[in-house]
Amino acid sequence: LRDSLFCMRRLDQVLSSLGYCSRREAVLFVKNGRVKQNGLVLTKADQKVDPHAVTVDDEPLEAPDGLLAMLHKPVGYVCTHDGNEGPTIYELLPDQWLRRNPAVTSVGRLDKDTSGLLLVTDIGPLVHRHTSPKAEIEKTYLAEVDRDLEASLVEIFAKGDLMLRNEEKPCLPAKLEIIAPRTARLTITEGRYHQVRRMFASQGWHVETLHRERFGPYVLGDLAEGEWQMLSLEQVVS
Ligand code: URA
Repeated sequence: LRDSLFCMRRLDQVLSSLGYCSRREAVLFVKNGRVKQNGLVLTKADQKVDPHAVTVDDEPLEAPDGLLAMLHKPVGYVCTHDGNEGPTIYELLPDQWLRRNPAVTSVGRLDKDTSGLLLVTDIGPLVHRHTSPKAEIEKTYLAEVDRDLEASLVEIFAKGDLMLRNEEKPCLPAKLEIIAPRTARLTITEGRYHQVRRMFASQGWHVETLHRERFGPYVLGDLAEGEWQMLSLEQVVS
């Protein structure tokens, strides 16, 4: 009971923070009989409700405790909100997510030319936890390079003393698997600017295509390019 009392929030605030409508529009939602709690039509927009028991048009509220999803980012999309640099990943997400408050944002970024797994969330602490260097979350990339790879790279990337230009600290050990003459899988635990491209560049290879397959426990699987998939908060890495 204490838990459910704790969750009680004003209906108009709940609907607006989850991106359904403005607080003013919530009055109309209620007037039109679209909002129910435990199956009973609600009559006042300012009443306290348990978000878990509320439906709009008979659908449960979307991610009332915070939203976490993975997106398969296509090449050519940028991770900023600024549309001047080309299409943004936010164009691939439902408008309602962008109207949430706090708004949905990406967990870290991928370059415009990189495809693959990008987490998106409206849970601030979760962004921090996944992007903090201390978290050392494993990220796995598939890279195609411009000339045949050499086995010596495995050791060079694994040693933990690889210096990138203009940086003071060496890269943490990274795991390289050469899977074809010009294709490798690289797992890193940091997220420095253009890190994978710069690691290869430091040894004289140019990365031609880069794709992130995994972020911590999450894998893209067969999620199609440009598509997103909701993740359950129970799977969240702590
Ligand atoms: N490393 C890169 O170089 N680019 C990315 O987008 C991610 C990691």
